[in-house]
Amino acid sequence: MRCPWVVGVSGASGTPYARAVMSGLLDAGESVDLVVSRAARLTILDETGESFRDAHWKDDLARWLGREVGEADIAYWPAGDLAAGPSSGSYRVKGMVVVPASTAACAGIAIGLSKDLLQRAADVNLKERRPVVVVPRETPVSRSHLQHLLSLHDAGAVVLPASPGFYAGATDVQQLVDFVAGRVLDAIEVPHTLYTRWRGELGGGLGAPPPGR
Ligand SMILES: Cc1cc2nc3c(=O)[nH]c(=O)nc-3n(C[C@H](O)[C@H](O)[C@H](O)COP(=O)(O)O)c2cc1C
Repeated sequence: MRCPWVVGVSGASGTPYARAVMSGLLDAGESVDLVVSRAARLTILDETGESFRDAHWKDDLARWLGREVGEADIAYWPAGDLAAGPSSGSYRVKGMVVVPASTAACAGIAIGLSKDLLQRAADVNLKERRPVVVVPRETPVSRSHLQHLLSLHDAGAVVLPASPGFYAGATDVQQLVDFVAGRVLDAIEVPHTLYTRWRGELGGGLGAPPPGR
């Protein structure tokens, strides 16, 4: 029986992270239930130059991901559809990743606002004690942002900031994106080869340590 991961894309900058997480899940043979917030349409348009429309989600997603998507691989639920599958705890999913997570989405999930399907699905997965990973993208952060992130942590979510490490030897932006996506997949124990793991010795990355160190 199909048991997908819910991927919620909210309106923070960082749509490449969402693309990399979805691709990583599909590459690992996982299925995805996708929810894209209204604001995320603006960031997708701004960052990819492409529209994302409910009525044309399949074509728009295929363009965004750069691959065709099969019926069993990805189900799409409009963000305004509060009767959608992921709005109920009895709908089978493995858990949820919110990537990127806007401060508004973090706040809404932290206080149980459920103002749209993305926030409701996250709330449901928290109450069902399923894995939830939230990937905030904002800087600097205010006290209220930090309080909401702490509430999410306390509610059982993994708060995984979009904060790439440079120790894996990235030589281009996509590798930095893949580092964050790989850490997301690590958090939900989905196998991948998105970044080179730390091997316990300096110099494994791009820059070898200076002589004598
Ligand atoms: C181009 C663009 C970039 C944005 N970048 C961010 C961001 O990096 N982080 C953030 O928290 N909000 C960002 N916002 C603001 C959110 O989109 C806004 O707070 C929105 O209400 C979030 O709604 P959602 O959580 O339902 O997606 C951005 C908005 C636009 C239009």
